[in-house]
Amino acid sequence: MKSIEWADNKVKMIDQRKLPLKDEYIICNDYKCVAKAIKSMVIRGAPAIGVAAAYGFALAGLSSKAKTSKALLDDLKVAHSHLSEARPTAVNLFWALSRMMNIAINNIDMSVNKLKDRLIEEATIIKSEDIAINEKIGQYGSALFNKKVSVLTHCNTGALATGGYGTALGIVRSLNKQGKIKRVWVDETRPFLQGARLTTYELKKEGIEHILITDNMAGYFINKGDVDAVLVGADRIAANGDTANKIGTYSLAVLAKENKVPFYVVAPTSTIDMNINSGGDIPIEERDKREVLFIGESRIAPSRTKVKNPAFDITPARYITAIITELGVINSPYDINLKNKLLLNKRN
Ligand code: MRU
Repeated sequence: MKSIEWADNKVKMIDQRKLPLKDEYIICNDYKCVAKAIKSMVIRGAPAIGVAAAYGFALAGLSSKAKTSKALLDDLKVAHSHLSEARPTAVNLFWALSRMMNIAINNIDMSVNKLKDRLIEEATIIKSEDIAINEKIGQYGSALFNKKVSVLTHCNTGALATGGYGTALGIVRSLNKQGKIKRVWVDETRPFLQGARLTTYELKKEGIEHILITDNMAGYFINKGDVDAVLVGADRIAANGDTANKIGTYSLAVLAKENKVPFYVVAPTSTIDMNINSGGDIPIEERDKREVLFIGESRIAPSRTKVKNPAFDITPARYITAIITELGVINSPYDINLKNKLLLNKRN
């Protein structure tokens, strides 16, 4: 299953707003179209947003009329700032854009056409690296379990939310390959229903046993002993381990701790933001009230009902059993261990 691909110098994305009812694609040939696709959640999930931003940046290069690489850089700066505004919480967006910008700056001596090709190449590398990272995460994560388990997951962290394979759902895939999945409890994930629409879609395609529940049923099943572990993704992990993820994640973490069920955050290291000290500093996106007032086309509350729609919440580090990355499983104290792991990786 492909969330996004570069095809004939265009960016092709499956429209995740339409899944699972329709397989429709959006094709972009300019960066503004990609920014719009990210904002409107045609494509979503932190790593996939990063890949889309990188491809959007490459498109900005390709469509630029600049005659010199220096002039191209000016156009790329405009695209960078436009794409940066698409969504505020997933740090992978900013991570991918700054990686692309560095490629442009560091290769400013190339001819303009060579630099355009180099940007397309880098975006493609970002995508393929993401898939390899997810497979690595799957290996580390699945090694934590030595028997058949039932896991609960929130939102969608699968192939659709990444370059491919998935983070938390990637671990589920790896566990399933090893015959270690009893079942997956899928939170529907109000209001955008990523769990009900997308995670069930992916698990069904993979033939993995799963049961869909509404978000407010999670505590009931966790307390009954039906859940061996909770696996969630992340949009941004602060230097102290506090984690922003889909709204409802914090409640799950509290429920897991109360019931002594391990709670794992699963993410590539590109989701760790060492410039943010703690969760309180992570910007939380507030989305359109329509997402809460409507399910599909059906309105569920009277007109003029006031609505709040924060797309993410913060889970304090103390609720997190471990953070599973492509560099391995990181335990608390996160303020020390995240820094050490990243530094060690930089040195090697
Ligand atoms: O609003 P979304 O659908 O982009 O939110 C997605 C999540 O919260 C995911 O858990 C997170 O981005 C990780 S995806 C591997």
